Formats: sequence, C-alpha cells, structure tokens
Amino acid sequence: MEINKNVEDDGVIFMSIKEGKSEEIAKGKEDDVTILAIESSCDETAAAVVRNGREVLSNIISSQIALHTIYGGVVPEIASRKHVEKMNGCIRAALSEANLSLDDIDAIAVTYGPGLVGALLVGVSEAKAISFATGKPLIGVHHIEGHISANFIENKDLEPPFVCLVVSGGHSHLVVVKDYGEYEIIGQTRDDAAGEAFDKVARAIGLGYPGGPKIDKAAKEGNPDAFTFPKAQIADAEYDFSFSGLKSSVLNYINQAKMQGQELDQKDVAASFQKAVVEVLVSHAIKACKEYGYDKLAIAGGVASNSGLRELMEKECQKENIRFYRPSPVLCTDNAAMIGAAAYYEYQKGVRFGLDMNAVPNLPLGDRERRFHGRGN
Ligand code: KG4
Ligand code: ZN
Repeated sequence: MEINKNVEDDGVIFMSIKEGKSEEIAKGKEDDVTILAIESSCDETAAAVVRNGREVLSNIISSQIALHTIYGGVVPEIASRKHVEKMNGCIRAALSEANLSLDDIDAIAVTYGPGLVGALLVGVSEAKAISFATGKPLIGVHHIEGHISANFIENKDLEPPFVCLVVSGGHSHLVVVKDYGEYEIIGQTRDDAAGEAFDKVARAIGLGYPGGPKIDKAAKEGNPDAFTFPKAQIADAEYDFSFSGLKSSVLNYINQAKMQGQELDQKDVAASFQKAVVEVLVSHAIKACKEYGYDKLAIAGGVASNSGLRELMEKECQKENIRFYRPSPVLCTDNAAMIGAAAYYEYQKGVRFGLDMNAVPNLPLGDRERRFHGRGN
C-alpha cells in the first residue's frame, strides 16, 4: 500500500492510495465491471474506481479532519461545504489515476446512508447528476456495508459466510455476513458506539480530536493494568455492547484525581481504557464465531484500525483456529474503494436505483430500500 499525501492551502489533506506498486493499470476485459464510487457521509470526501469488486484502480480521499479538530468534533455545515468544494476534484483525480474516462465506467455507486444528511446529499446529488448525464446505472450503498466490504479488497480469498465486527464512530455491530449483501445482526451497542467512546474519553483526558488514533498512540506508552475499568455484560443479550458505563467510570476517575490534586496520567488512562474496550470486542466476536460455527472473522470500521484490537484479535483467533481478516488501516476509515467493492455485488444482483434516490441519515443495516430502473442494465 502506497499513500501519497498533500496538505492543501485550506488544511484539507488530499490522499491518493495505491495498492502495491504504481505500475500501469492492465487493460480491462470485455466482461469486467468497473465502478466509480463516491463517499461523503462524514468528513471525508472520497472517490475511487474499482474493478470487479476487488481490484482498486484508484482511491482518492480528501480528509477534512484538521478543519474540525479545533471544534473538537465534526461540524456538519463545514463538512457539507467542503464536500461541495472537493467532490469534483476527487472524482477527476480518481478517473485520471485509473487512466479512464466516464465512458469506461459501468456504474456510479454512492453512499446514501447512514451519515450526516447534508454531507450525504453532496455525494448523492453528484452521483445522480453523473448517472443522468451519462445514462449509466446508479447504485446506492449502505455505508456500513461498505466498511464490511473493505475486507474483500486485500483478501481476494474471503467469501461469505463469515462473522464481522463493525466498529466505527457511529456503529458497533456484530454481524454474520451470510452472503454478499446479506447480514444478520447478532449484537449491537445499547448506547455509545465504540469510536464514540474513544472520542469522548480522549476529549476528557485532554488528548483532543480525533480520539481514536490519539488514544491508540498514547496507549502504546501507558500501562494497561494501571486501572481496572468495568466491562459491561448485558444479561439477556450476550452479544450486545455497552460503553457508557466504562466512559462514566473513566470520567469519575478523572474528577476524583482532579479533586485530590493528583496528576492525571493520560497514557495509563488511555491504555487501561483501550484494554477494557478491546477485550469486550474481542471476546464477543470470538464467542460468536464459536457459537454460530464460523471459522472466519473480519473486522471493519474506523476502530478496526486500532493496533490493540488488531493484536489481541489476531492472538485469540490463532488460539481458536479462526482465520482473521482485517483491512489495512487506511481502508478501515472512510474511503470510496470500500463503497465500490460493496456496489459490485449489488450490481451483479441487478440492483439499480432511480434518480429519486435520497440520502437516508439513519438507514438501518441489512434493510435497504432497493430500487430498480430500466436504464443501462
Ligand atoms: O469508520 P469511520 O472512519 O467513520 C464512521 O463511519 O464513523 O470511524 C471513525 C471512528 C472515530 O470515532 C475514530 O476515533 C475511530 O473511528 N478511530 C479509531 C482509530 N482510528 C479511528 N479508534 C481507535 N483506534 C484507532 N486507531
Ligand atoms: Zn465510516
């Protein structure tokens, strides 16, 4: 994986990600399906060209993270405005790096939910405009299904069924991927998502935004056994998660330390908090594989790039003879290549959306509204 980064005048980071060496892209075959994919659900504007679901010809991410850092979180209005500014440039770069024009594309895919409504609308409107202008089919993709599909890109042998732990800023789900595009949710969070807990605790201990990567880094130098934070187990739903008790316990510790005039050891708190989160995520996922009888386990979403989670999951999977799949960290966080991977399997099933496609900010996983239209199939 080769990542080229360039910080633009407005602070936005423009990234081009290439799988392997940047050699000339081989010409496609007649029956290849080449998809232009667009993602804009949160604070990354992204475009990618993906062939046959697993071959990424180009992968462009324009990250606004630096613009939101000063506010301590994503400001939806700023995100939408920046998406509008950056979208065309990302698409142009994605096509040009793939050495293709819109004529060579078979379909346009876009994240239509869940996410910030104003942010989603930018991608959705762009995709609809390209579909209308070119007459190419339009495919709406569920953002979390995209995250799960990121696993297909580097693991060419991975095929359903398998168990997937999805942990992002807004979601914590344990799912069985029964087939392409078919999901059975077996566990989910009762309160905060895993990434949300990372972000809130990071803010409380003064590490700032974005919390996940900062806690990950600080934890490497801290003692994970310095504090014992609680790990919630929900009696009637053994695969569900709850992180709010853990978060409150960290906040209580911080307040107590302040009142007693003690110095807060950020690194020890970060390491102990991360250990508590990671142990719950790993134990639930391994238990699900064993009880449901699957020997393949994948992880997905921004928190899947956490080094502590990757390490412990690998160790436990080895012990239990489970094959462990995880995308490279840059494919765990938001990108459009994963949307192109998910869209390919929808395209093969004949899924086509109409130009009445809308952004759905709270779109549930596995409950997509599938639309068909007659054009360009
Ligand atoms: O999947 P993602 O990029 O966006 C959403 O769909 O939400 O996930 C973002 C979340 C944030 O909460 C961020 O703090 C967390 O993923 N995250 C991490 C790490 N990198 C990103 N959490 C823990 N460790 C990391 N290394
Ligand atoms: Zn995401």
